[in-house]
Amino acid sequence: MEKGKVAAREPVSVELQAGKEYWWCACGQSKNQPYCDGSHQGTEISPLGFRAEKSGEAWLCMCKQTANPPYCDGSHENIVEETD
Ligand code: FES
Repeated sequence: MEKGKVAAREPVSVELQAGKEYWWCACGQSKNQPYCDGSHQGTEISPLGFRAEKSGEAWLCMCKQTANPPYCDGSHENIVEETD
């Protein structure tokens, strides 16, 4: 799948609640990072809905290049140029 625009080159720490559903922005254009605000409309990219398995801190990917969305997998370390 096509990857989104780099919103930031580092992950963001968020507090998740077990069992709650979240929509992670995959296109990188949301103004409400790391969550979807509908900005993907008109792109080929859809947000990723996920349910938190446990409550507590999680590091969500902001570079949108992770292979393990919505979580950071360190891929942001490999970004060498701006993609927008
Ligand atoms: S912020 Fe995207 S992999 Fe770390």
